[in-house]
Amino acid sequence: MKGIILAGGRGSRLYPITRGISKQLFPVYDKPMIYHPITTLMLAGVTDFLIISTPQALPTFRELLGDGGQWGVSFQYAAQGEPRGLADAFLIGEEFIGGDPVALALGDNIFHGAGLGEQLEDINRGNQGATIFGYTVADPSSFGVVEQGPDGKAISIEEKPKNPKSNLAVTGLYFYDNQVVEIAKSVKPSKRGEIEITAVNNAYLQRGQLDLKVLPRGTAWLDAGTFDGLLQAAEYVHAVEKRTGTKIACPEEVAWHIGLIDDAQVRALAADHRNEYGDYLLRLVG
Ligand code: TTP
Repeated sequence: MKGIILAGGRGSRLYPITRGISKQLFPVYDKPMIYHPITTLMLAGVTDFLIISTPQALPTFRELLGDGGQWGVSFQYAAQGEPRGLADAFLIGEEFIGGDPVALALGDNIFHGAGLGEQLEDINRGNQGATIFGYTVADPSSFGVVEQGPDGKAISIEEKPKNPKSNLAVTGLYFYDNQVVEIAKSVKPSKRGEIEITAVNNAYLQRGQLDLKVLPRGTAWLDAGTFDGLLQAAEYVHAVEKRTGTKIACPEEVAWHIGLIDDAQVRALAADHRNEYGDYLLRLVG
């Protein structure tokens, strides 16, 4: 399975601090925001990534992440000139995806919870139709909102509804089989001029091929794309890391954990960080 990280956008909910700067490069306490979607997909078993961002920000992403070899993965890069919508990722990424299934992760979404990696790996193995994740939030009106039938299956998805039919927001992590490219091509831009991911998900729903997984309350899902969301995400990462002495979304650790890099490579990577982050990497390998 291929993985696409969508890390462009306007960032207008974070103006003025995002003017000319990509928010996915911002720190969430001790790591750049984009480390979160990268490690989430790594835990799902993805090693082949396409990073999509604005033409202005791409050189900085390249500088930060390189070709991925340091973490045993591959990063390719593609520019999105205008934020044409989330499903644009499948048009930009058509060649990269080729004949494979693909996971899409939004650059400003943060997931953390026990068992999440395994759950995602299972979905990756299953590989059929589409899988989306619902999460109960107090105010879902700024997200896609999914309504469930009595059997728990999705029966409708509405994009940013004024009167949401449920409190279940669709999170920024999606798994698709290879039909997604053709489906994305057939989607007409919405009233706000975007190729909506909700339209793609509704196409799978109509085909009877949309699987909705509801994330348990014990899983944290944070959207770091607003002033409060960014601060809350940093506070969350800080609190959990200090309390447990472990790190959330540390790519070196994830790569080592799943066997993509060995002890010696972790030691070499640690040498780049003359701080607590480097000490943490050294402690991992003893
Ligand atoms: P949003 O946060 O909805 O979009 P945005 O970055 O334009 O922010 P704002 O609402 O503040 O204007 O998008 C979710 C993620 O997807 C975010 O990481 C940016 C990214 N994105 C793209 O890369 N391309 C796009 O066309 C869109 C719509 C979003």
